[in-house]
Amino acid sequence: MNLNTTYLGIPVKSPIIVGSCGLTSTAESIIELANNGAGAIVLKSIFEEEIILDFEKNVLPKVGPMDNDLEFFDYYDYQIKDEVLHKYQSLIADVKKSVDIPVIASINCISNGEWVSYAKKLEEAGADGLELNIFKLPFDIKKSSEEIEHSYIAIIERIIEKISIPLAVKISPYFTNLGEFVKRLSLSGVAGIVLFNRYYSIDFDINNEEVISGGVFSGDKDYEMPLRWISIMNQKSNCELIASTGVHTSDNVIKMLLAGAGSVQVVSALYKEGSSYLKKMNSGIKEWMSSKGYETIDSFKGNMSQTTADKPEIYERVQFMRYFSDHKH
Ligand SMILES: Cc1cc2nc3c(=O)[nH]c(=O)nc-3n(C[C@H](O)[C@H](O)[C@H](O)COP(=O)(O)O)c2cc1C
Repeated sequence: MNLNTTYLGIPVKSPIIVGSCGLTSTAESIIELANNGAGAIVLKSIFEEEIILDFEKNVLPKVGPMDNDLEFFDYYDYQIKDEVLHKYQSLIADVKKSVDIPVIASINCISNGEWVSYAKKLEEAGADGLELNIFKLPFDIKKSSEEIEHSYIAIIERIIEKISIPLAVKISPYFTNLGEFVKRLSLSGVAGIVLFNRYYSIDFDINNEEVISGGVFSGDKDYEMPLRWISIMNQKSNCELIASTGVHTSDNVIKMLLAGAGSVQVVSALYKEGSSYLKKMNSGIKEWMSSKGYETIDSFKGNMSQTTADKPEIYERVQFMRYFSDHKH
């Protein structure tokens, strides 16, 4: 029996991929994750926004206002970008020397801008694949959903032109017609779609009446939303579907594979339990496979997706009407 599968078309020995986060930002912790059985890792993202913030925080205070000096602005802007890029390229090169699992670079972007030229450089540094974490929280009341969706596809098409390594896109669930959009993305040339990213959220401190940071980590029931969507979109998409958010246990991984995911990404559980938890998750999957007589992941992957179900309508049920009429107490 083995846990072999593919991640973005690349053979991996476990379906558990460590998602982009602080744990994948140094060679040291990546080696530890690999030694504990991660199938692949997605590096901490380079943030398009962060580069801009870095400029505002570190350069502007030193040089003072220079609203009219565009040349000066460009000079520093590019220097900072080069520095960020250089560090990231060295990280990729170091990690690739030390581990034999796929290393996926990650870019968090909001626009179709100059940063696109980064992608090729990350490939040259040795990345096995690239994940784009594209996000525009749809609070721009002047933009239609069509415009927002078009900008995702435009970014992907530009990147695909530039690189030959496989591309994944990690998205939010906030689309008007999520099913249609996932289908369209899957036809754009991406090798995988990660469903879903989880975002920084805000909370209120009611004593001081202040906005504070919301919870950083996912909860143990948060896997239910990606589970539904992977089940629905399996066999309706032209690329791998990767489950992310709330995958905390080996049971959660098994559910995602049964839904049709090729693999899962895990982050919060590893922050809480440490990297050795990967071993426990991998052996939990193997124990279940052995109890069911499955030798490979392919022999049960997608067994519970909507297309194979006797009652496909259950996957689309969203109202609690029945629940309340059945549970009177
Ligand atoms: C501390 C922390 C840092 C993260 N940093 C990134 C990042 O740099 N890029 C990214 O695409 N996602 C980032 N994420 C999101 C995770 O990759 C993942 O999509 C999300 O946490 C949901 O998975 P989980 O439920 O297993 O935590 C971060 C999450 C956490 C908790």
